[in-house]
Amino acid sequence: MKLIFLILPIFLLAESFISNLEYGEMLYNNPRGISCAKCHGKGGKGKLIATYVDDKTGEKEKLIAPNITKVSYEIFYNKVKYSKVLKKGKFKTLNYSAMPKYGYLVDDEIKSIYNYLHKGKK
Ligand code: HEC
Repeated sequence: MKLIFLILPIFLLAESFISNLEYGEMLYNNPRGISCAKCHGKGGKGKLIATYVDDKTGEKEKLIAPNITKVSYEIFYNKVKYSKVLKKGKFKTLNYSAMPKYGYLVDDEIKSIYNYLHKGKK
């Protein structure tokens, strides 16, 4: 009988750990809006969305959804929640974004997606 009380909490902990990542995976694929995976690909590894010719320069351009498995939580959170780009560098100069804003996702949901992308099996 004592053994059951020792083992049970381990099962409960293991179960909630796994389902948290699964929850994050589910939200990543279906965040109650257009799926992150549609653009960022399986497991957030990044994907080419489209190629096009720029009207002004006539140059061939690529629209790429970047790899999002290595960004900091601060960058991640601000981009998903507020569509705010914090990073200096190539995204700093964007005055448009192909990515929708997911302002309705609550903090726990954003954290779950982040955890899935950074710790989950992909
Ligand atoms: C319609 C395509 C599309 C969808 C859907 C999409 N993204 Fe994006 N995402 C982009 C593009 C393109 C960028 C590059 C910067 C920009 O255009 O805003 C980006 C940038 C990001 C960045 C910033 C990366 C960096 O290094 O600064 C994060 C984080 C991110 N996306 C997370 C998500 C998450 C999480 C979801 C789902 C809740 C999602 N995206 C859905 C296209 C998309």
